[in-house]
Amino acid sequence: MPKHAPAKTFSLAGRPVRRMGYGAMQLAGPGVFGPPADRAAALAVLRAAVEAGVDHIDTSDYYGPRVTNLLIREALHPYPRELTIVTKVGARRDHAGAWLPAFSPQELRQQVHDNLHNLRVDVLDVVNARIMGDIHQPSEGSIEPQVTALAELQREGLVRHIGLSNATSAQVAEARSIADIVCVQNLYNVVHRDDDALVDELASKGIAFVPFFPLGGFTPIQSSVLAKVAQSIGATPRQVALAWLLYRSPNILLIPGTSSVAHLRENIAAAQIELTDQALAELDAIGAKSQEP
Ligand SMILES: NC(=O)c1ccc[n+]([C@@H]2O[C@H](COP(=O)([O-])OP(=O)(O)OC[C@H]3O[C@@H](n4cnc5c(N)ncnc54)[C@H](OP(=O)(O)O)[C@@H]3O)[C@@H](O)[C@H]2O)c1
Repeated sequence: MPKHAPAKTFSLAGRPVRRMGYGAMQLAGPGVFGPPADRAAALAVLRAAVEAGVDHIDTSDYYGPRVTNLLIREALHPYPRELTIVTKVGARRDHAGAWLPAFSPQELRQQVHDNLHNLRVDVLDVVNARIMGDIHQPSEGSIEPQVTALAELQREGLVRHIGLSNATSAQVAEARSIADIVCVQNLYNVVHRDDDALVDELASKGIAFVPFFPLGGFTPIQSSVLAKVAQSIGATPRQVALAWLLYRSPNILLIPGTSSVAHLRENIAAAQIELTDQALAELDAIGAKSQEP
């Protein structure tokens, strides 16, 4: 076995949270737009997550829009004291479901108020500033206005902690010169490893890294190595992909998304998986290979 099994928790928003959380985006309708096909099933997933010990849920008011926040509220309000809900602002949807940038100070303020209202809370635990741009290659550029706007909302007591999403290392540094940044949420998984250096940099600063698309999102990750390791330990390839992330760095907090209670349970069970040094080396090589020209 590896010398160090992964820690069970990491600090987020000033308190330890379990490393296996839940991402609510998949609860909205197709294209993350409109209501879920099966509303009762969506509510059941949220309740099952918390019953299974999940204490970190990721959402946004632009999922649906409003849909995931309203489901979370219906399923879980009044919220357990230990539950940390992380939302994000910086985008909006048009009537056809397109994702549009919305990060002027006025728009961010309105989105914070929308999240407060729809989640029915007086203060938001963590708000990520979602930086618009290609999710496969976040674009550089100053994010000072967005972070300053969130810092103002934090001073007003509407936001407890600030995070970033789709951000570069330089943007994290700029944001940290304005406000305390508690988490960064970027695309990362066993295949997509562009943020390897950022993961390590944030770990050294005690900042959580929360990969989105940990299972590949809308295009599930596939790899013969994942399948082989999974078969050798009696797990599923997706469980192995999640377990690898837990071993990758102690500051990684997971928010796999699912609309199925069975998949939720499978994902949560991945936190118990033990990977040998040999399996970890084989899994590490998947990302290295994908970066070859
Ligand atoms: N900051 C951002 O820009 C951003 C972008 C995207 C996502 N996010 C956040 O990150 C979270 C995670 O990303 P994601 O949900 O898009 O992608 P993901 O977790 O990589 O994958 C979700 C997909 O995998 C399927 N799945 C999950 N568990 C499974 C299992 N055990 N077996 C088989 N299929 C399984 C789900 O389908 P089923 O419903 O059928 O299980 C869904 O299609 C989101 O929920 C959202 O909160 C943030």
